[in-house]
Order: sequence, then structure tokens, then C-alpha cells
Amino acid sequence: MERQCNRWWSPVLLWALLIVLAAVAPVSSISRDDFPTGFVFGAGSSAYQVEGAAAEGGRTPSIWDTYAHEGRTADKRTGDVAADQYHKYKEDVKLMHDMGLDAYRFSISWSRLIPNGRGPVNPEGVQYYNNLINELKKYGIEPHVTLFHFDLPQALEDEYSGVLSPNIVEDFTAYADVCFKEFGGSVKYWVTINEPNVYSIQGYDLGNFPPNHCSSSLASFYGLNCTKGNSSVEPYVAGYNLLLSHASAASLYRKKYQPKQKGYIGITLFAPWVEPFTALPEDIAAANRVLDFLIGWFVDPIVCGRFPFVMRKLVGSRLPSFKPEESAILRGSFDFIGFNHYMEFSVQAATSNPDDNLRDWYTDVNFKIPQTNVTKALVSKDPPTIPLAPWAMQRLLDYIRDKYGNPPVFIHENGYPEYNIDPTTTEYNYHDEHRATYMRDYIESMLLSIRNGSNVRGYFAWSFVDSFELVDGYRNRYGLIGVNFSVQNRTRYRRYSGDWYSKFLKPMHIGEDIEMWM
Ligand code: GAL
Repeated sequence: MERQCNRWWSPVLLWALLIVLAAVAPVSSISRDDFPTGFVFGAGSSAYQVEGAAAEGGRTPSIWDTYAHEGRTADKRTGDVAADQYHKYKEDVKLMHDMGLDAYRFSISWSRLIPNGRGPVNPEGVQYYNNLINELKKYGIEPHVTLFHFDLPQALEDEYSGVLSPNIVEDFTAYADVCFKEFGGSVKYWVTINEPNVYSIQGYDLGNFPPNHCSSSLASFYGLNCTKGNSSVEPYVAGYNLLLSHASAASLYRKKYQPKQKGYIGITLFAPWVEPFTALPEDIAAANRVLDFLIGWFVDPIVCGRFPFVMRKLVGSRLPSFKPEESAILRGSFDFIGFNHYMEFSVQAATSNPDDNLRDWYTDVNFKIPQTNVTKALVSKDPPTIPLAPWAMQRLLDYIRDKYGNPPVFIHENGYPEYNIDPTTTEYNYHDEHRATYMRDYIESMLLSIRNGSNVRGYFAWSFVDSFELVDGYRNRYGLIGVNFSVQNRTRYRRYSGDWYSKFLKPMHIGEDIEMWM
């Protein structure tokens, strides 16, 4: 009684204070309750970037194994072990559950499932993906599965030059058929191809992605190490064949599987926002051209059955044209479109006309990036140099809504890179508060577009665990969960950003964690 009387605080007052804080604090920030019912929050990965087990379970090399083994990555390392998710999927799924993810976006390794690219199916591959899917389902985590995330079977590259050949359409469709048949009972969200725009530009114009094609004139111009290629023509042929592959797989899904399996199918594009550097009409036109060459190149065909007018005009006969039956199968070949959005950059009209002897995707678009922006946006080296432009997310989504009739959309990737981490000092670094800030601001920007009517259905952080980051090898990290790549066991450790996302996803209890929202 004595103590009770002496207490300087009253429980009633404290509760009142907490209730006021809980009611007021979130107003200054966002919570998942602000999003429509059914909105999905997840995180993602891709097969070659996390699985490892490159030579196990019947898998054969993809073009990324070849690239990495040729010593082309920044740190000369490969995805042979990567984050070892092949062996650690149970631990990872448990971490996803602990974080509160609704969904996990991953891709299937084509050469694990069908080692020769076409023909016999590898039962161990089927088993692995069934194990992963079942583990996700056990925790109520929805699998969102990409069929092709850059890692073309090397066998198909060797046999007929991969996506430069029309043969790819039939083989991709047969591979997709196996995936729908084996996993479609449990998988309701399918992406046919991740970033065909990046695959075409980096693989066939710049040549800094496998299969490293570019024109010899460009190789010396950009200082790249290409084996062969024709940057004037091949990016457009690759894009065309990838589009037809997508449409063929989507059409198969719709006819043979969708009525029973009741899932959804789409395609995912790399989608920075592009802003005019000035209000001059020529800069505005340049920004629109870049958007058409980057996004419209793939979205116009699946929405309207043709390439954007400006591409047809500027690329001319180097741009393949769709036959009427191809247009017909492309048009409407999606239930949703995925966008991978990380950044914004501004552009100006190029000052000189493109040199006809040096035509490639870049000179066809005919733009330039002001020097200050190049260093900031495209070659960011050390944190925190990635320009924080969360407003760009809203602008991108508003643009898609207005230009393409408000299709259902997923943000399939959004995340913050840390470059050149010194593994001796920061391997276990927990403090990535900047990544949490980045995510919060981008998620908030997405919400503004949703409130203005955009049909966004979900958001996936890139990446769930640290990964083999393609050309950067392990010098670049995006993980909500860090991975110690120096030890055989590939130990995981949840970062601040993972804690933040978890708290964002799980309902807040009064009296707990209020500081997260302040
Ligand atoms: C995307 C790609 C991912 C990932 C990410 C971060 O373009 O789809 O695989 O590497 O960039 O660099």
C-alpha cells in the first residue's frame, strides 16, 4: 500500500499515454493496415543467386555458371555455393516465417529441372522444388515463382545460341509445361521471364552479361570484353524471341492449366523511373523515349500486340515485326505485370545525331545522362550513394496506371545495395538502418499511388538473403538477412532492415516497439 501510494506514475495515466502514442505515432508513418486487404508483402531471390549446389542433384551449368567461371565477376567468385539455399531452404523458410513474410519470390533453375535444356526431366530437380514449395506452404507462405531469371541452360546456348534462335520458344514452353504440371497444384503466381529488357541490353548490346555479345566497335568504345555479337540487331532479336516465349508459355498456361489450377501469370521488367533533366521539350521527349525503349518495348506488345511507335520509327527494319498471329497471342498475355524498381535517373536529349555506323540500343534511344547523375545513379560505389528518390516509385506506378489502362501490378524487386563491403569488418554488420529507411520511403510512395487508384497487388523486397549479385559477385549486398560467405556453413544473421520489415509486417502491440514508429 505504501509503495502504491508513493508511486510517482499511475498505471491509468501510463496506459492513457501509450494509447495516445499508439494512436498518434503511426499517423506520421505507414503500417501494413494502410494497404488493401489481400495486399502481399514478401521478399525475393533467384536460383543462381542463392541456391548453390551448382553441380549437385543432376544440375548442369547455365550461362551464368560459364560467365562466373570465366572470372568475369568483380570479385572473380562464382555462384557454386552462393547462399547455399539448396541445403538451407528449411532454415530460410523458418526465417521468412519469423520475419512475417506473406510470400517468397524465387526462380526455378531450368538446368536443374531439365539438365539438357530440353528433353528428360530430372527427378531430383522436381524433388527439390517440391520440398521448397511444401516447406513454404507449411508456414502459410505463398510461393511466387519465376521460370527464367537470367540462367539459361548452357546446353541451349551451345546448341543454337539461346534466345537469338526461334527454337527458344518451343523449348521454353516445354520447360514451362513441366513446371505448371509438377508445381502448379501449389503455385498460384507465375512469372515467365525476369527482366527480358536487361537480358537483351546487357547480354547483347553491352555484352557485360552472359552470353557477352556486343559489336566489336562497341566493345572498344565501352571497354568491354565481348566474344562476338552485333549490338545493332541482336538486342532486338533477343527481345522479340523472349516476348514470343513469354506469350507461348502464358497461352499454354491459360488453356491447359489455369482453368483447373486457378493461378495467375505475368512477366517482370526492370523499371527505373526516368525523369527529364530540364523542362525543355526535347528533354521531356528524351525521357519518354527512354521509357518506351526500356518498358514499352515489352509492355506495349503484351498490352497492344505491337512495339511502341517510337521504336518502330527509330530502329526501323532492325526491329523484328510481329506477324498477325504473334500479335494476337501477345495481346493480353498476362494477368499482372511485375516491375523491379530501384532508382530514378534523369536524361537529356543527345546533342548529336547517332552515328549510323555505331547504332545500338543506346544510340537508337538517343539520350544522354548528365554526368552528375551517371555517377550518382548508375555507378554508385559506397553506401549511401544510391540516390534516394522514393517519389519515383509513385511516378512509375502512376505512369503505368495512366498509360496502360491500370493493369494489376506487383513490385517484384525494390531494395538497397551496399557496395564493397569489407568482409573482415562488416561481414556481421547489423546496422543497415539506411536500408530500412529506403524501404519505408519507397513503400510509402507506392501507397500514395495505390491511393490514387493504381492497381498494385504486392511488394517484394530484394533480397531476402544476401546473394551472388551477378556482375558484382559478393561485393554487393541487398539482404534483409546477411550471409557470411566466408564460412562453409553460410551463416545467416538478421539485419536491422529485417527487424524493421518484420515489425512493419506484424501487428503492433500497445506498449511494444513504439519507437519504431517515431
Ligand atoms: C535485378 C535482378 C536481380 C538482382 C537485382 C539487384 O535487376 O533481377 O537478379 O540482381 O537486380 O542487382
